[in-house]
Amino acid sequence: MRTASLIALDQILVVGVAGLWAAAAGTVLTAARGSLAAGPRSAAPGTAGQKAVPAGQATGTADRSRRNSSIAAALCAAAIAATALRVVLTVQLARAGWWFVGEKVTLALPLVVVPGVAAAVISIPRLLPGRRDLAGTITGAGMPPRARGGRGSARLVAFPVLVAAYGAAAGVACGVVVSFPVTAAAAVAVLAFFAGASAATWRLLPPGRGADRWHLAGAAVLVVALVWAVPGRLQGGALHAGHGAAAAGVPVSRLLGPSGPDARRFTLTARPATVRLPSGRTAEAWSFNGQVPGPVLRVRQGDLVEVTLHNALPGQPVTIHWHGYDVPAGEDGVPGVTQDAVPPGGTHVYRFLASDAGTYWYHSHQNPSVAVPRGLFGMLVVDPAKPAAPGTEDHTIALHTFGDRLTMSVDGAGPTDGLARARFAPGAPVRLRVADTDSLPRILGLSGVPYRIAAVDGGDVPQPAELSGRRLSLAAGGRYDLTFTMPSRPVLLSVEGHPGLLLNGSAPPPAASGPLLDITTYGARAAVPAHFGRRVTWVLDKTLALVDGVPKLGYTVNGKAWPNIPTPVVRLGETIEITVVNRSGDTHPMHPHGHHVQVLSRDGVPANGLRMDTFDVAPGEVWKVALVADNPGVWMSHCHDLAHAVQGMEFHLAYEGITTPFDVTGGNRPA
Ligand code: C2O
Ligand code: CU
Repeated sequence: MRTASLIALDQILVVGVAGLWAAAAGTVLTAARGSLAAGPRSAAPGTAGQKAVPAGQATGTADRSRRNSSIAAALCAAAIAATALRVVLTVQLARAGWWFVGEKVTLALPLVVVPGVAAAVISIPRLLPGRRDLAGTITGAGMPPRARGGRGSARLVAFPVLVAAYGAAAGVACGVVVSFPVTAAAAVAVLAFFAGASAATWRLLPPGRGADRWHLAGAAVLVVALVWAVPGRLQGGALHAGHGAAAAGVPVSRLLGPSGPDARRFTLTARPATVRLPSGRTAEAWSFNGQVPGPVLRVRQGDLVEVTLHNALPGQPVTIHWHGYDVPAGEDGVPGVTQDAVPPGGTHVYRFLASDAGTYWYHSHQNPSVAVPRGLFGMLVVDPAKPAAPGTEDHTIALHTFGDRLTMSVDGAGPTDGLARARFAPGAPVRLRVADTDSLPRILGLSGVPYRIAAVDGGDVPQPAELSGRRLSLAAGGRYDLTFTMPSRPVLLSVEGHPGLLLNGSAPPPAASGPLLDITTYGARAAVPAHFGRRVTWVLDKTLALVDGVPKLGYTVNGKAWPNIPTPVVRLGETIEITVVNRSGDTHPMHPHGHHVQVLSRDGVPANGLRMDTFDVAPGEVWKVALVADNPGVWMSHCHDLAHAVQGMEFHLAYEGITTPFDVTGGNRPA
């Protein structure tokens, strides 16, 4: 079974196990209460402390009590079976890696397995029919001291079941509160809840007490423990704020791009605009230069680029981040990290040398989960120094959702939610530069012609194989350059959720429906680093964390949310192996700024060393990538599902000796 399915199954099972143990515990207590009302049949009649109960009613109640005992035994057995299934599932899951099971093996499972075994050995036999009545066993009430099961009997039967129920509940809490690695604070919180509830139960379970009081006391302990435990977990997370970079060093604001008199100059003015789609829908947008998407910035490899940003958006600060372009850190456009956000009326100039050819894009990084969907983005294309063959049809296609409509913008033209069309001369070499500027992956296809993915995330793919009918998954933020020779028949670029782009003709060929291509093994195998100066692991999860100061389920890295995720500090020239583990049920397009990574493997399967700047880690997947620390700075690294980033999945990568004078006070909102 796939890791993601195992995780999902375990999430269901953990709740099921808790439910079964809770039901078993409740039934044991109910049986005891019924027995109390009926009076212990095994005891001498009329002993002190028993109310007189009419005989018929007493017999009925005793029958009910016996039935409840049997039900309790059956529920215990079911809970034990479900617990055993969880153990089996965890063993299966462990094969995908310790990251997926660490907290289950060390914390959650022992808390339910140990009392579960005790319940199997001690409680179930005493609950089965044919044994002494539960009333006598549990309460010992009404019996002369010698005839009672002893004070221990009450506890013997009920205690393991109740403790297993607490352990199972702790398992549910674990799934929400604990990620990988298990922090001391989280472990203490879960253990405190478990131990507190168990200890209180032990004290409240002497013979003769009313079951109602047990219910009440148990519930009270639960509430108190949870109230105590949750803030404890969160404080633990808050201990690791800050950058970790050396206090003295080169500020990132000095790491700027070169300038020169012959720079290619662009001006981008952020201002409000309205998007009008062919379907008649409109969307209020934020634009660059009144265009949505912003103008395509097209330069040639080797050009100096100088972009002046003006902000004419009322009330909204703006920056520009060059997505996938490994600019000097001071030009990276991340508010609070590499600059202060440009306030309304403000101006900022970005400069960089366009040393790498390829397809990139730019977008505001201030409040990006709002600004990018609203339209503050555009394409950046660096044409190779050696010009393409004459007659080449070279076009950009930005995929973006406005409102609830997936749209396509060809060459920076107004987005369309209808079928886009273009006419190319048969025989012309074609390059379609497709960018996913949304927060979810897009499924593409090209039909009517065999094609190649000539470039991924701006970088050329070595010896890309020809593809026919295959579908492609493009990560949020990622880019594919699709190349082919225009045939005499029509060609359709299809995008799931959109009518697509029709090249020539009037009737589109059927959309590609072949299997999904595995991009990690596409192209010739490239040389990859074999020695690493440092290894880091990012375990992606959805965990209770402080998000913007509020405790909630956030998207976490190693159990913590921005800005509490510790910053790895690397040395210039070092090669870092990054292991990315996705424990959550969502796909995370991971995007380290300022660097491309080389994909080493996915789920243990060697990859071809493709260079990417945004790679989709699907639920349950483990990616290993190599990052060469060749661009000093303090860099943002985050999930490019911008809704995830704003809920915590965002952190830094810092270089030794580089500091940032910026912080997230004063309105800087990098996520
Ligand atoms: Cu495309 Cu940090 O961004
Ligand atoms: Cu994500």
